[in-house]
Amino acid sequence: MDARAKSRYHELYQRWQRDPEGFWGEAAQAIDWIEKPKKIFDQNAGVYGRWFAGGVCNTCWNAIDRHVAAGRGAQAALVYDSPVSGQKRKISYAELLHEVRALAAVLKDFGVTKGDRVILYMPMVPEAIFGMLACARIGAIHSVVFGGFAPKELAIRIDDAKPKLILTASCGLEPNRNVAYKPLLDEAIRLAAHKPEAVIVLQRPQLEAHMVAGMDHDWATLRAAAMRHDAAAECVPCAATDPLYILYTSGTTGIPKGVVRDHGGHMVALTWSMQNLYGVSPGETYWAASDIGWVVGHSYIVYAPLFHGCSSIVYEGKPVGTPDAGAFWRVISEHGVAALFTAPTAFRAIKKEDPLGKLVAPYDLKKFRTLFLAGERADPDTVQWAERILKVPVIDHWWQTETGWAICGNPVGLGALPVKYGSATVPMPGYAMDVLDDARKPLPAGKIGSIVVKLPLPPACLPTLWQQDARFKESYLEEFPGYYKTADAGYRDEDGYIFVMSRTDDIINVAGHRLSTGGMEEVLSAHPDVAECAVIGVKDELKGEVPCGFVVLKAGVHRPHGEIEKEIVASVRDKIGPVAAFKLAITVNRLPKTRSGKILRGTMKKIADKEPWNMPATIDDPAILDEIATALKGRGLAG
Ligand code: COA
Ligand code: AMP
Repeated sequence: MDARAKSRYHELYQRWQRDPEGFWGEAAQAIDWIEKPKKIFDQNAGVYGRWFAGGVCNTCWNAIDRHVAAGRGAQAALVYDSPVSGQKRKISYAELLHEVRALAAVLKDFGVTKGDRVILYMPMVPEAIFGMLACARIGAIHSVVFGGFAPKELAIRIDDAKPKLILTASCGLEPNRNVAYKPLLDEAIRLAAHKPEAVIVLQRPQLEAHMVAGMDHDWATLRAAAMRHDAAAECVPCAATDPLYILYTSGTTGIPKGVVRDHGGHMVALTWSMQNLYGVSPGETYWAASDIGWVVGHSYIVYAPLFHGCSSIVYEGKPVGTPDAGAFWRVISEHGVAALFTAPTAFRAIKKEDPLGKLVAPYDLKKFRTLFLAGERADPDTVQWAERILKVPVIDHWWQTETGWAICGNPVGLGALPVKYGSATVPMPGYAMDVLDDARKPLPAGKIGSIVVKLPLPPACLPTLWQQDARFKESYLEEFPGYYKTADAGYRDEDGYIFVMSRTDDIINVAGHRLSTGGMEEVLSAHPDVAECAVIGVKDELKGEVPCGFVVLKAGVHRPHGEIEKEIVASVRDKIGPVAAFKLAITVNRLPKTRSGKILRGTMKKIADKEPWNMPATIDDPAILDEIATALKGRGLAG
């Protein structure tokens, strides 16, 4: 029997197609409800309907309390492994409950109640996860902001989410430096129109933060007092459709989109995914080597492994340099990891340092069964290299901040389907896919078009954007009526495998991090000497893509170009953050445009990536493309 015939995937997918509500109603039995949903799907609620309407539940209960009640109290819930601080710590489910109950009580003392927002700006420490779960426990809505973002980005999120409270730490630990988070937060609060009522600061010994009187409170002191008084907040009943969190992600402008996640659908879909997609059982150790600032971190460092009763690794380090390219294999062997989930860029980094995979040999990886990759397209070279050195299946899967879990994947738990390199495999139950042309007509197998998902989206996917139903409809639902626009382009082959090739908007993917070139262009055009600009993502061996900015200077500017370019690079770092990895600004005399004035970014990218390109029929002045190629060659890019 071949792998396709052995897998239960097709049977299950068809079962979902026949009866979506029956399918998700059954999946919903895996979680504890305070009140069962009145409707599995209410098509009259929300923008496109709501899952588990009328259901009452608590996310923190399902992540912690029920496992303790069921006898899992002594099992590690979190395994903190931090090569950058030299710390390792196991936190059992019972300890996690103790910490989260106490922190939830602290939050309540600050007046945080159901529906209030709490922003977390924190590194990869267990306390950040306690914070997320404490919010979930009392029905507060958390919004985690990645530490690599600059104060201005944080300020935008503060103004949108309007948090009552902010949780932070004194510093993050990058291999080359300690990043003082607190001054960045202070600056963000200064820039924001909305001011939080208080900030709770986790002081780390590597770098102590200065505390602002009247605003800042010491985390350890509050914790100690709560523990001393045995303070404990219990789980607050939440509607399945209430928001659990807001996670901001790049849109086409500098204003990020506040993706909303609900309680009920999120729990049901994520719990389903652990066994069926990832093939992991309760009690096993699961590791998503990402950061809690990203959706992968939310879903697969924090929530899904805990819903499923797994031990989840919280890794504060890098794939290379902490201390070497064997770091992942050490963690897998030391903690008995069954499944690892990371971005292909991490493997490209390891491959660069240890091309023969020699650093695998010293470690015992016998519990390790599967490597999952997502966040960007998994290039076949990297997948095959990982297969060779690890001798386990390597599974690419495709998803977005908006969906919260995989759109397409290879469901290992149902019996893996044959791997096709370059494909994220097949749609998960819940997702009915189409590939459409510009006239919204379905395309035949093999033809590239816009990948769309038929409405309704499955549980866990965003019901809307935070307080912006209109923007949600405009961004995702209007271009292809009846569908959710993924903004990814690709094709489906004759076996139904999906190949995701590129974005259809100006989002780029830098080291698995999603960034908006539009947002960067806003920073470039704000420079006083810049008349106009264009930012494109150019191919990069390690990070997949890196941004490259072209600027045309205002008439009469005679300062050295190198000086202006340096200022521009610094201002992107300052305004968006180091995570943008914006290191290349190039001054040119003109930008190539169509006759109607649209900048030909796509053609510029092809030239930079040394890909074949055709002269656009609508180009205003073809000579400008030669000027761009010459400028790129001057920086070692373009053929
Ligand atoms: N706080 C503050 N700064 C941070 C940060 C954080 N949490 N995370 C990253 N940065 C900084 C880095 O220090 C770096 O700054 P630099 O320009 O001074 O060197 C910059 O942001 C870019 O960081 P990063 O993208 O991590 O690049 P890198 O060159 O340090 O490392 C990889 C490259 C491939 C090793 C790294 O990107 C990686 O491990 N990626 C894994 C992918 C991943 O986690 N994806 C998430 C979705 S699954
Ligand atoms: P994010 O919202 O940060 O998770 O980024 C989502 C985007 O990353 C998607 O829209 C894709 O463009 C890209 N992406 C994520 N996973 C994959 C994958 N497995 N294959 C191709 N692209 C991917």
